[in-house]
Amino acid sequence: MLSNKIQDALNAQINAELWSAYLYLSMSLHFQAEGRAGVANWFAIQFKEEQAHAQILMNYVNQRGGRVILAPIDAVPSSWASILDAFKATLEHERKVTSLINSLFALAEEEKDYATRDRLQWFVSEQVEEEDNCRTLIDKFSLVGDNGMGIYMLDNELAARTYTEPSPLAAQ
Ligand SMILES: [Fe+2]
Ligand SMILES: [Fe+2]
Repeated sequence: MLSNKIQDALNAQINAELWSAYLYLSMSLHFQAEGRAGVANWFAIQFKEEQAHAQILMNYVNQRGGRVILAPIDAVPSSWASILDAFKATLEHERKVTSLINSLFALAEEEKDYATRDRLQWFVSEQVEEEDNCRTLIDKFSLVGDNGMGIYMLDNELAARTYTEPSPLAAQ
């Protein structure tokens, strides 16, 4: 059984993951409209990943006999000045998510809820990957700057990204 404190914190994290999904969907649509199909694809996959993150937590709450409460999802920005700007905003956002996960992990320890701590461990590693992917893309887009051919080639590279079900869902 989940304590109310942990259940509330998990519900808040579910909302944060869904907000992330909403943010990346907005970025995907923005770049689709701008004719950057590869970047749009990258963010569309990120949108799916964030939905999966929320799903992992929703499944977990129910598995522990808790209740998922779906709160409203706040509005997200709808335009970015450049691809580089969008990836910088993404990194900044993922850093915030990392600190949310860390706080949640600390709360689970404090409450001696080791099952929740164990579930969150996956998210701790996932955040390392999210921030690293983002930094790599920031480096690449910084390198090409305004060079049209460079942007065209990177857009093609991002078109190749495919979705992989995160392991906690794939295992179910
Ligand atoms: Fe996430
Ligand atoms: Fe990821």
